[in-house]
Amino acid sequence: MLNGKVIVVTGAASGIGAQTARELKLQGARVIGVDRNAVVENVDDFYRADLCDPASIDRLVQALPKHIDGLCNIAGLPPTAPATQVLKVNVLGLKKLTLDLIDTNLADGASITHLASLAGIGWPDSVDTIKAFESVDFSTVDAFCQNHGIEGSRSYFFSKEYLVVWTHMNRWTWRERGIRMNCVSPGPVDTPILADFIQTLGERAEEDMRVMDRPASPSDIAPIVAFLQSDGAAWLRGANITADGGMSSMLTLARHGLA
Ligand SMILES: NC(=O)c1ccc[n+]([C@@H]2O[C@H](COP(=O)([O-])OP(=O)(O)OC[C@H]3O[C@@H](n4cnc5c(N)ncnc54)[C@H](O)[C@@H]3O)[C@@H](O)[C@H]2O)c1
Repeated sequence: MLNGKVIVVTGAASGIGAQTARELKLQGARVIGVDRNAVVENVDDFYRADLCDPASIDRLVQALPKHIDGLCNIAGLPPTAPATQVLKVNVLGLKKLTLDLIDTNLADGASITHLASLAGIGWPDSVDTIKAFESVDFSTVDAFCQNHGIEGSRSYFFSKEYLVVWTHMNRWTWRERGIRMNCVSPGPVDTPILADFIQTLGERAEEDMRVMDRPASPSDIAPIVAFLQSDGAAWLRGANITADGGMSSMLTLARHGLA
């Protein structure tokens, strides 16, 4: 299905990124892994980069091939990481890498897929903060967090709210080049950072697990990312695909008194 496509996967060293690299290769893609940690499996090529450092992203973009058919932005930090680091990796690094690759490396018709989260479901309640974040960069993110009370685990939730909105907004920004952008929003997934989410959610985590029966496994999520990279997903633009064992359906109905 992905024969002949060159696809970059960030976060390829672990969890959902590692499984996505494996799935893309199984489907015939040439996979280029990117991570701050070394990747030895599932990739044809690997580039080490730190996505919270703009200079590292500049070097990565320079080094990557000049014809790339797809970008899967999967690297991310959990809610237990420092607030500004979370925004740098989950949003600012992701945006910089994406926009820079669009400028110089992405082919016409390329597909961009972000790993958002069920944590982004509350974005309609954060519209003013999301608008204010639009102009924030690596040098102003500390001040932004202070001015808008983004601290502790809120940073993770806000990072995913922003990412869902950014995806919707850029559904067809690069229309004349046929470059499209979508995201996937899992609920809890059994990866090394699942414990961070359980710690952050406290008792709510137990309730969530009852609704879902079990956390997802990375192999529940990777095929969805792979599908978004395929030509079969050409009509999906700015979509946020929920993959959460029914959690978002339940939360949305509950919010409107229908649960
Ligand atoms: N696990 C879950 O429950 C869950 C749920 C919803 C969404 N997500 C999202 O899925 C994505 C993948 O998470 P995961 O669960 O596979 O976690 P993980 O910790 O297994 O993988 C994250 C990867 O990102 C890399 N990374 C982190 N910071 C980086 C940086 N500065 N530069 C380069 N690479 C960096 C890590 O080295 C790691 O390989 C994240 O964006 C996460 O927010 C996870």
